[in-house]
Amino acid sequence: MKIPDIIIAVDGYSSTGKSSLAKKIARKFDFLYLDSGALYRGVTLFAQEERLISRLGKVSDALREALSGLDLHFDAEGRLCMGPRCIEQQIRTMEVSAQVSPVAAVPYVREWVDEKLHEFGRRGRIVMDGRDIGTAVFPNAELKIFMTASEQVRAQRRYDELVAKGETPLLEEVVQNLRERDYIDSHRETAPLRRATDAFELDNSDMTFEEELAWVQGLIQGKFGIL
Ligand code: CDP
Repeated sequence: MKIPDIIIAVDGYSSTGKSSLAKKIARKFDFLYLDSGALYRGVTLFAQEERLISRLGKVSDALREALSGLDLHFDAEGRLCMGPRCIEQQIRTMEVSAQVSPVAAVPYVREWVDEKLHEFGRRGRIVMDGRDIGTAVFPNAELKIFMTASEQVRAQRRYDELVAKGETPLLEEVVQNLRERDYIDSHRETAPLRRATDAFELDNSDMTFEEELAWVQGLIQGKFGIL
């Protein structure tokens, strides 16, 4: 099935499986997948390493200037790099998850990330996942999906992912982090997490990957009249 050079926005709550679905869409339709959350995680790791964020999540004003010297980019495998370093592993830790939402709520951080996202967007034929892709970054995206799932399912998925990577989190700590991030992400002033009015909602609590992909395929066929 060949589909036009559109932008597909996949937004939603933490650990709803946005990146898994977006990657599958990219593979199936030969699109480029872009993970906007990775950039917010990369900025957070940078702020932590440069000691520009306190233990309680207070971001120093010095981050604004420091960002002008920060090089974050994706390598050919889609892994996030900071200069010559691949930081894909470090940005997925609980330590980064614990501070990413306060960092992502800072307006100049969002501007910095948005600029990068728009550069990618010029290319078209991309599927991007995040919190504000369909509402703020690409409000004209031709297809918007908003993902939800029950808290229990989301927490268990994230817990399993972390354990598979060798971390030893407590399930309760993971639940707490999802709640906190969802709260901060939906209540911040700049580009809060919310469903775009023209987004299709997908609750995948009880769906397999195959069912999800079939759902998206149905959407695309209906919307673009492709058989
Ligand atoms: O994988 P998960 O859904 O847990 O999170 P992520 O996509 O890696 O995003 C990490 C954090 O970055 C989110 O909790 C948001 O605070 C922030 N974010 C954002 O504000 N806007 C986006 N477009 C993407 C992520």
